[in-house]
Amino acid sequence: MSQANIYPPSADFVKQANVSGMEAYRALYQKAADKPEEFWGELAKEKLHWMEPFSHVFEWEPPFVKWFVGGKLNACYNCVDRHVGEGNGDKVALLFEGEPGDSRRITYSELLKDVSRFANGLLRLGIETGDRAIIYMPMIPEAVIAMLACARLGITHSVVFGGFSAEALKARIQDLGAKLVITADGGWRKGKEVKLKPAVDEALADCPSVTSVVVCERTKTPVPMVHGRDHYWQAVEAGQSEHCPAVPLDSEHPLFVLYTSGTTGKPKGILHTTGGYLLQCAMTVEWVFDLKKNDVYWCTADIGWVTGHSYVTYGPMALGATQVIYEGSPDTPGFDRWWAIVEKYKVSILYTSPTAIRALIRQGDHLPNAHNLSSLRLLGSVGEPINPAAWEWFYKVIGKERCPIVDTWWQTETGAMLIAPMPGAVPLKPGSGTLPIPGVMAEVVNLDGKPVGPNEEGYLIVSRPWPSMVRTIWGDPKRFEDQYWSRVPGKYFTGDAARRDEDGYFWVLGRVDDVLNVSGHRLSTMEVESALVRHPAVAEAAVVGKPHEITGQAVCCFITLKKGEYDHDVLSKELRQWIAHEIGAFARPEEIRFSEALPKTRSGKIMRRLLRELVTNNTVAGDVTTLEDLSVITKLAAQQDDES
Ligand code: PRX
Repeated sequence: MSQANIYPPSADFVKQANVSGMEAYRALYQKAADKPEEFWGELAKEKLHWMEPFSHVFEWEPPFVKWFVGGKLNACYNCVDRHVGEGNGDKVALLFEGEPGDSRRITYSELLKDVSRFANGLLRLGIETGDRAIIYMPMIPEAVIAMLACARLGITHSVVFGGFSAEALKARIQDLGAKLVITADGGWRKGKEVKLKPAVDEALADCPSVTSVVVCERTKTPVPMVHGRDHYWQAVEAGQSEHCPAVPLDSEHPLFVLYTSGTTGKPKGILHTTGGYLLQCAMTVEWVFDLKKNDVYWCTADIGWVTGHSYVTYGPMALGATQVIYEGSPDTPGFDRWWAIVEKYKVSILYTSPTAIRALIRQGDHLPNAHNLSSLRLLGSVGEPINPAAWEWFYKVIGKERCPIVDTWWQTETGAMLIAPMPGAVPLKPGSGTLPIPGVMAEVVNLDGKPVGPNEEGYLIVSRPWPSMVRTIWGDPKRFEDQYWSRVPGKYFTGDAARRDEDGYFWVLGRVDDVLNVSGHRLSTMEVESALVRHPAVAEAAVVGKPHEITGQAVCCFITLKKGEYDHDVLSKELRQWIAHEIGAFARPEEIRFSEALPKTRSGKIMRRLLRELVTNNTVAGDVTTLEDLSVITKLAAQQDDES
């Protein structure tokens, strides 16, 4: 090992680890590389319950893959019934902490009854296998129950993050052709009610496919209910049997669609299916989180993002984990809320994002230091590269130099982790996701698909299909092929730049496309631009990411206005609000700059590269040979000088 900051696993950790020592990791990796069918086939039989066996492990007709072909299983059965059947019904599945301080403990047996009653209620509403449901909920147990009930019946779910606006919700409902929407009156965040039902009502004005809406009462604020369409959750499950057979589903049955931002204004519906997805989620929990029977696991992600799918609902539950779910914000009532939760529930594995870590660092060490965090044994990070200062703080102040930090690289499309350390085997280097998990053939290449040398920057690609791989873009297989499989023909293009060091460790450097990463959430510059130009005052807009101390990147907009008199301050506020309405509050721009023109190439393409440089360095040093009107950049830079 050639770098100074290397953290090998401690002897104690190695002794108890699910994968113990580098040789064990290498053996797994080698077997998966040499005999992928045997490797994944054996794991699938051992770790999942199959209602009908699969005939072969995978079928690869690039870019489409099928895993565990011919097999039938049910994800909900694997996540719930199986544990009850194995005598673990009294084990706690969910430890729920509401933001106002209420809490609930739900065992696997109770969960089975709750899920079954609710699934029976959905059947009574006329929802069937193959239908699609939107889930738009706060982070409460019913959100997980809703996902599992859909999985039980083979209803493909699409969770829409509660921070998305009615407009964004509408686009997703329409694209999916959903028949059912499961929502709540609202949820609690920062001491206030975040209302959800009004956004559903607004969206549904334009969504004829939806026949039923189920409303869970969380905040108990009265909401208008449309007769015949809207039903309270409690009424849906009332009088329903606690028994509801889990439907045997094809391994390739669509489990969920999750919309994520791409490089156009239209979000992509990433489709994940059942068998392969579930297996890789479960295996990465076992390998990377080193999950044991007695762990109390807490992933702080919302179910609205892929992390909440793979590492709240499906991965940990497939292994029968006990986990914490928390409804609210880390700062309510004080910035020590998370540390109080770790102490209260004796959390042993904590998985979160660099953005959250950076926000908490700011509040001072006295907050975590005032709590007993000795239950922690493993920490994890996801969503963006973790900067060394955040890593060190997490390691020292939270983990007390005892807990390995697993930096996990993956994407909505990959379904589960692809590059992440096995903490009892792989020495850590802060900022690196380290090595690929078994079966993942990751490479760093140039645009000709040729591997670049050690420490050279290139494109991160994956050259073989993996079980939890995206199957297609919902309703748009052509876009799926173009987007991921044509840049380097036949290889999966991640959209990330990376380098590999002399030890083979991967260092992900960020996106190479027009996708921003704000607080670990993906946001397309095109999506924000299209929303901006829908505003009557905006003629043209260019959106770029600006480095931000807490959120990693922040949204920065350059705007030219249509003819007219405008008060820039007022319009700026209005446009920020507009984005919150069109997309969601999390996409609200940090900065808006008005300009008479935008820098363009002679062919009329906006030179975002220059704008990025401008917001990062406040000057432009890059190549401007194709710039149509150089004075535009000079003016934009001068405007910044005036303001600062
Ligand atoms: O750029 C990478 C970054 O987040 C992108 C995926 O975003 P999303 O699909 O929203 O999924 C986020 C949660 C898995 C990637 O293309 N990213 C994610 N994890 C890391 C990361 N960048 C560096 N290090 C990571 N650990």
